[in-house]
Amino acid sequence: MTAKKPQILVTYPLADVAIQKLKAYFDVSLNTEPRTLSQAELIERSIQQDGIVCLLTDNMNEAVISACPKLQAISNYAVGYNNIDLNLANERRIAVYYTPGVLTDATADLTLALILAVTRRIVEADAFLRAGKFKGWTPDLLLGTDIKNKILGIVGMGRIGSAVAARAEAFGMSVIYTATSDKHLPHQQFVSLPELLKTADIVSLHVPYSPESHHLINEKNITLMKKSAYLINTARGPIVDETALTNALMQGKIAGAGLDVFEEEPKVNPALLKLPQTVLLPHIGSATVETRTQMALLAAENIIQFFFGQKTDNLVNPQVLV
Ligand code: DGY
Repeated sequence: MTAKKPQILVTYPLADVAIQKLKAYFDVSLNTEPRTLSQAELIERSIQQDGIVCLLTDNMNEAVISACPKLQAISNYAVGYNNIDLNLANERRIAVYYTPGVLTDATADLTLALILAVTRRIVEADAFLRAGKFKGWTPDLLLGTDIKNKILGIVGMGRIGSAVAARAEAFGMSVIYTATSDKHLPHQQFVSLPELLKTADIVSLHVPYSPESHHLINEKNITLMKKSAYLINTARGPIVDETALTNALMQGKIAGAGLDVFEEEPKVNPALLKLPQTVLLPHIGSATVETRTQMALLAAENIIQFFFGQKTDNLVNPQVLV
């Protein structure tokens, strides 16, 4: 008699290569529809599972986790895991995995794309041309601002922050950063958050979302920024007080913003949509075919490792295995 495979739920039709891999190890219940499950569906489909492979849009809160008496592991298809009640997972000794590393370059590339888009008014210029307003070259048409010789302030110098720094330096920017501690980097200066906000020409956010980083960029902190500065957020929406940012942009307190994430995603403050000095993207930081395939494979590998392997790579809460 063959041993019963562990049962897992995969909440979204991820790259098939990963699904096939999972099917070799698990009895897989797969949501085949390309949409996020409602909370009720998520609970209903999770109840009998030993493991869950989920998205950052799946709210793995108390209601879900408490409904799953057999749950041993959650493998999040994301580097951020603020969608998971980690305290409860720790209490229940449920292993929580994430997918760091594989999305670093794609996210850093998109951050640079946003920096260039806001400083060079790319989206505004594209709309201008499509509206039939381009009547010929003139010296003052849609002037932007150089990034060479400007200062990039990175808030959170982890994997993605460091990859953004390397790209920015290739464009001739100098980099300052703030982090939980001084990393004694050879080229980039560690400063306090107020110092960074006062000094940087572009502020780019790369911290995880947590109660500590909630509204880190609030009205008071935005006021510290230069009038000519831009804010870039490819991390998590609620790190920025979106109302305060919108007001600051409308009042010309800062020059512009490039946002890939929003406080109440997918909702966006309607006033932001009207501002030409913003570039607004639908959370596509890691959205390349290659990266999303790697994320799916890593999320699969992580849960396979939990049930069948020895390694504890990419485990958020190693203490639950002790
Ligand atoms: C993540 O992984 O946390 C990103 O927001 C999506 O790739």
